[in-house]
Formats: sequence, C-alpha cells, structure tokens
Amino acid sequence: MYRMQQQQIRLTDSYGRVARDLRVSVTDRCNLRCTYCMPEEGMQWIADSRILTLSELERLVRIGVEKLGIRSVRFTGGEPLLRPGLADLIGQTAKMTCDNGEHPDIALTTNGLGLEKHIGKLRDAGLKRINISVDSLDPERFAKLTRRDRLADVLKGIEAAKAAGLRPIKINTVVMPNTNEADILPLLDFCLNQGFQLRFIEEMPLGPPQVWNRDIMVKAEDIKATIEEKYQLSLATGQRASSPAKVWDVVQDGAIIGQVGIIASVTKPFCGDCDRTRLTADGQIRNCLFARREFNLRDLMRGGASDEELALAWAGEMGRKLPGHGIDSPSFLQPQRGMSAIGG
Ligand code: 5AD
Ligand code: SF4
Repeated sequence: MYRMQQQQIRLTDSYGRVARDLRVSVTDRCNLRCTYCMPEEGMQWIADSRILTLSELERLVRIGVEKLGIRSVRFTGGEPLLRPGLADLIGQTAKMTCDNGEHPDIALTTNGLGLEKHIGKLRDAGLKRINISVDSLDPERFAKLTRRDRLADVLKGIEAAKAAGLRPIKINTVVMPNTNEADILPLLDFCLNQGFQLRFIEEMPLGPPQVWNRDIMVKAEDIKATIEEKYQLSLATGQRASSPAKVWDVVQDGAIIGQVGIIASVTKPFCGDCDRTRLTADGQIRNCLFARREFNLRDLMRGGASDEELALAWAGEMGRKLPGHGIDSPSFLQPQRGMSAIGG
C-alpha cells in the first residue's frame, strides 16, 4: 500500500488555489514563427548555458511531483520536439509517483512538425495526451500565420499521432482578426470527422508588442457565433472547474455529433480556478502566464541547494501568485517574455 511521505509542502497561494498542473518549457526555440507568438526576425534566444540540462529538468520535475503535489506534467516550448532527449525526460517523468500514489499524467503541446519521427518513442516513454496547434487548413493562410509553408508537414504529424494510438488528440487554434476566421468551420468539420477535440483559443497579449489589440481581437463569443451559423451548441456536462476550455456539444439535427472547446482566456478569465505552475527552459518558476516576476530556481539549484530548499523556494513563489492576470485592467502590462519563452 502507498504510504504518505512525511513532507507535505503544497503549491498553495494566498487565495486558496493549489497548483497540481506543471507546465515545463523544454526549449524556447521553434521552427515556426506564428505572428501572435514571435516576431518575424530578431528573436533573442536564451543562451545555452542558461538552459536547464536534461538532468536538471528531471530533478525539478521530480521535486514538483514527489514533494509538491504536482499530478500532471505538460511539456511545451517553443517547440518541445526540438529538444533532444525529450523522450527520455518523459520516460523518467512517467516513473515518478504523485502524492495520490499514481504516476503523473503526461501531456505534450507541439506544433506537430516532425511528430511522425518522434511519436512512437514518446508514446512508449509514457506520453498519454497531445495537443497540436493548427490555425488553418488552407496552406496559404497557414503560411501567413506561421510564416512557414509547412501545413502538409503538420498534417503528417497529426496523422502519425492518430496512427500511434494517442487519445485524445486535441487541436489548438488561435483565431486572429482578419486572418483565419474563415478557418473556424473547416477546422471544426475536420476535427469532427477525424475524432479530434478542437479548442479555439482567444489571442492573448503574449507575442510581439503591438500585435494584440483588444478592440479587434476575435472573442470567444464571435467564435461561438460563427460555429452557430452551421451547428447548434449546448454546454457539455461534466466539465472540470479548473478546465480553461468551455466545452460545447456540437448538435446537428438534434443529435450530438462531437464537442468543441472555446477558451476565453481574455474575455472570461478562469484565474480563480487556475491550478498551474510553470517552469521555463532556463529554470525560472512563473506562478502565472502573465506574471511580472519569476523566481530563479536554476541559480539556486546550481548553487548547491537541496531538494528541500528548492521545494520551499518554489512553494514560496506560488504563494505570491496574484488573484488574476488583469488583462482588462488599464494598468495591465504584458510580461517581459513572450509565450515561446514561457511555455504555453
Ligand atoms: N495567444 C493565445 N495562444 C497562444 N499560443 C501561443 N501564443 C499565443 C497567444 N499569444 C498558443 C499556441 C499553442 C499553445 C502553446 O499556445 O497556439 O497552441
Ligand atoms: Fe512556435 Fe508555438 Fe510560438 Fe507558433 S506558437 S511560433 S509553433 S512556439
């Protein structure tokens, strides 16, 4: 029988939220240049010496899982498939034990490029769930949005994930004003046909400054209205309180033919239910995607800190988590780092 360990530090904040979901960015590099995420040129990459090594990543993930109550781990980037050794890291994580006696639930967010090469190894290492980002099924619009003509390769990656038996396969789509609104229904039909779970995401102010514009951004209600031109939507039952996606049943001729998620991160923030903590590729703890501060766990670790000291420092940073991101407040300031360096 599993016995409780004596140390029981938890990632609790002063508003009573407990982080159970760890997002780990394993690299800030990417082979796409999505307009809402990166500038066309001139990205400042994190120096190699500052990037956590695989064993450092493993150590910090282990502290999260075995000492701090983390139960799910999502690997992100940048593009996580660009990080050599990702499958080994997933394999090590899959062997860790959470405070409920189970192994962590392991997920990956990827743009799908090269997935066909990696998916077998990732699955065998213990990857359970995958989110693949696709913003358009039209090669030209895809290229305009990502600044790379790679739609066919992404579709190959998605196909490979399906063939490898990963379930569920979730597709993430950011809807950008005057760019891919015409893709909303084709993407939904594609996902309904293929059995993928589609999640539309409101664009957040996490890319190059000046890209995001509150006045013209495509809102969750706009996305919903577009879908309702073709289908009826009714709120699905049994949603997790902490789930950011509002999941709708897609109804046609009175029958439910699938589901779609619409994530209103900007217009209806779910900060009150947030259960996330983030570790960046260079070893900084972020208590929120939009935090204006970070805690440098890497230097503490490289200075010789014990697991216990690292756990306490991590918990301390989570204790400073603010109640919400305040995007709608006039005093909102974009975080200094963009999404690719924070991890989605
Ligand atoms: N707003 C919303 N979503 C974003 N992503 C990246 N940048 C942004 C942004 N500015 C999404 C990607 C991917 C996930 C990692 O985060 O499309 O699905
Ligand atoms: Fe790369 Fe993802 Fe950023 Fe697009 S959103 S540039 S795929 S890290």
